[in-house]
Amino acid sequence: MLVLGIETSCDETGASVVKDGREILSNMVASSLEFHKRYGGVVPEIATRYHVEVIDYVVKDSLKRSRVKLEDIDLIAVTRGPGLVGSLLVGISFAKALSYSLGVPLVGVNHLWAHLYSGLISRPDIKFPFIGLVVSGGHTSLVFCENAGKFKLLGQTKDDAAGEAFDKVAKVLGLGYPGGPAIEKAARQGDPYAIKFAPAYLGENSYDFSFSGIKTAVLYYIKAHRLNRKVVADIAAGFQKAVVDCLVAKAIDACRAPAKGGSASGGKGVKTLVVGGGVSANILLRKELTREGRACGIEVIFPSFELSLDNAAMVAAMGYRLFKGGVRSRSGLSAESNLRI
Ligand code: KG4
Ligand code: ZN
Repeated sequence: MLVLGIETSCDETGASVVKDGREILSNMVASSLEFHKRYGGVVPEIATRYHVEVIDYVVKDSLKRSRVKLEDIDLIAVTRGPGLVGSLLVGISFAKALSYSLGVPLVGVNHLWAHLYSGLISRPDIKFPFIGLVVSGGHTSLVFCENAGKFKLLGQTKDDAAGEAFDKVAKVLGLGYPGGPAIEKAARQGDPYAIKFAPAYLGENSYDFSFSGIKTAVLYYIKAHRLNRKVVADIAAGFQKAVVDCLVAKAIDACRAPAKGGSASGGKGVKTLVVGGGVSANILLRKELTREGRACGIEVIFPSFELSLDNAAMVAAMGYRLFKGGVRSRSGLSAESNLRI
């Protein structure tokens, strides 16, 4: 079955053709990142206009690269949300028009949960249930994934998302946008133990996150100290370590005792952790989670680096799984910000 995935939730216009939910025939991404850089973050209006300009070309390119004709597509999967509403509507309108004109079914997917399918595409052997950790620019969420149609949220950020905190800290350090890769690069020259930052853990029984306090701590530190290359590198390294430590502790904890926040998995531990979202590209996070997982008998699945960031292959892969489970979207499909699958 050939699925065309379309992703326009933020500043990337993505189109991908995926065969049977696991074989990526093409995965095209056009990004408006350059146009946002001078503002230090994504400007929704610019992102939306960019999607309108390029979506046609990105989809055509995706079909060409996969050597698939439009008439051969069996299903259209599109990101329904959460995301920037104007941007989402470009992809959704395009997908609806294609679905109607081709006479093929349409499935709208949740962007957040689609991030977890980035890691699953190359690992079709992974069985439910597993714990999902989504760490992106807009979300930080721990979820108990019972089956393809049933995800139970265990915890999420109360304020800034992990990626958002990386972006904001990079901004105040003058490292540019996007902040994640910039902090990671600066941190390579720094000592993670030189300056201690601590995110709020929100108590033993909580799977929620809070990263706004650590961001403010960095800001106060910067105000009170003279910055030079070494200090910036130490701040970046200390900040990165604090965020990674917190993500690792909560994610592993959720695998060992997913029932803490509710009745997930009936109190039994879970042996697989699937990670997704832009921050999953972070090398320290990959290293620490893999190490800690191994020590606890938990297999940690990461997407390839290309699939860590927003892409349409994950949308096609998730759309395929939902379609196989009987999900169909109506022509009234619209942008949504809720967390339902
Ligand atoms: O998933 P994503 O591409 O878009 C959203 O759905 O938000 O995530 C983008 C976020 C940005 O905040 C970016 O700074 C962060 O992912 N990011 C990273 C790294 N690469 C991207 N954060 C930490 N380390 C990285 N290497
Ligand atoms: Zn994303």
